[in-house]
Amino acid sequence: MRIIGLNGSPRRDRNTAKMVQAALDGAQDAGADVKLYDLYSLNFKGCASCFECKRLGGESYGKCAINDELAPVLDDVLTCDGFFLGSPIYFGDVSADVRAFLERLWFAGLAYNTDHMVVYTRQIPCRLLFTMNAPFEDFNKTLNDSIISAMTRFIGPTELIEAVDTLQFDDYSKYETQMFNVAAKLRRNREVFPTDVKKAYKAGNQLADLAAGKK
Ligand SMILES: Cc1cc2nc3c(=O)[nH]c(=O)nc-3n(C[C@H](O)[C@H](O)[C@H](O)COP(=O)(O)O)c2cc1C
Repeated sequence: MRIIGLNGSPRRDRNTAKMVQAALDGAQDAGADVKLYDLYSLNFKGCASCFECKRLGGESYGKCAINDELAPVLDDVLTCDGFFLGSPIYFGDVSADVRAFLERLWFAGLAYNTDHMVVYTRQIPCRLLFTMNAPFEDFNKTLNDSIISAMTRFIGPTELIEAVDTLQFDDYSKYETQMFNVAAKLRRNREVFPTDVKKAYKAGNQLADLAAGKK
């Protein structure tokens, strides 16, 4: 059983990456083979609107035709047994590379056919690991709902696990951060973020059990 985690933050060792790594650790401890991708280390762009994925009888029907560094990742995600997608929230949305990844993942699976609008036939349980600087109330519910709904439709049953009010810098004194209560930020990072990471670990455990048919 194979579980994939994708870190959609340009930072490879910060909040989002820690959530994704914890989820993969949880999955591995429950018996899964795991693989981590750092999206920002890959050379790729979003959907090129070439429509090769919709060309009748074409060799790329139902599959993204762009042959770049994202292509093997898309193949891997579409054949895995469980998927963790991590993204920082940027201006109320997922990061630019996550959006580009989702365009390619979803559009190739969309059939312009009212009888069957989704080409993909597998159901892959998916967990979104979103992190953001602002408190929970500032989450863009419309964005979350639309990503959960599209992911559920194209890939498989999807849930959101979030870490909010995250620490952006190790040393706030070095940056323009006058609007923040730094002591409160540091305290939250010490007291709450480890609980968020544990939540991600537990989700990894559970997704592995789900993928193995134990739940
Ligand atoms: C370009 C940019 C835009 C951001 N926009 C938001 C935002 O709209 N809302 C928010 O709460 N945090 C925002 N943040 C903060 C990040 O979402 C937050 O610090 C996140 O946890 C970073 O993840 P990372 O540590 O894995 O890189 C933004 C950060 C950057 C760099």
